[in-house]
Amino acid sequence: MTPAEQSIASEQICRLAPVVPVLIVEEVAQAAALAKALVAGGLPALEVTLRTKAALDVIRAMSEVEGGVVGAGTLLTRADVRAAKAAGAKFGVSPGATPALIEACEDEGLALLPGASSASEAMALLERGYTVQKFFPAEQAGGAAFLRALSSPLPQIRFCPTGGISTKNAGDYLSLPNVLCVGGSWVAPKEAVQAGNWEEVTRLARAATALAAG
Ligand code: 3PG
Repeated sequence: MTPAEQSIASEQICRLAPVVPVLIVEEVAQAAALAKALVAGGLPALEVTLRTKAALDVIRAMSEVEGGVVGAGTLLTRADVRAAKAAGAKFGVSPGATPALIEACEDEGLALLPGASSASEAMALLERGYTVQKFFPAEQAGGAAFLRALSSPLPQIRFCPTGGISTKNAGDYLSLPNVLCVGGSWVAPKEAVQAGNWEEVTRLARAATALAAG
């Protein structure tokens, strides 16, 4: 998969909804219900982080849910890329980007949303052909003001900021011309997931869907 193809795929995923839920799921038994609750609330693109033992099984289970487009987050190594792809992940997300990880995604044919948090990192990815990037950790790395500043010299790069975003500040990002969508865990709070409170997850997802991308 070429960088251009990767960027097209990432843009399509980022345009599905204003918010990509970032999910840390401990129990595979919760996976299908959680995915259904988010899809029902209007959020089809789901990032399952590879931070739990259950993550790959969660990706498998969520991939069966109609209307969902399931990806793997926290990709760090070629082994992660292979495992994610084998589990059915349709896209990958990484907190930063290394040449080895990018090469692995290109070789394995997994669309990657690679992370950047500085002008130089964003430029290095652009040089390689990646015009759609994750901005992480968004709030800690300068927030919406930082991305607004990048949009002037680097308008060709569009971002999915993630990290510290919630209903309070999502609108600040989504109103920027270089933001396609935002990522965040707030739509699937740990307490609601553990309690199986899927109505609450759907309610949060609906509220997120109502946020408009700029
Ligand atoms: C992460 O990788 O943890 C994401 O950036 C989610 O961050 P959040 O929990 O602050 O939304």
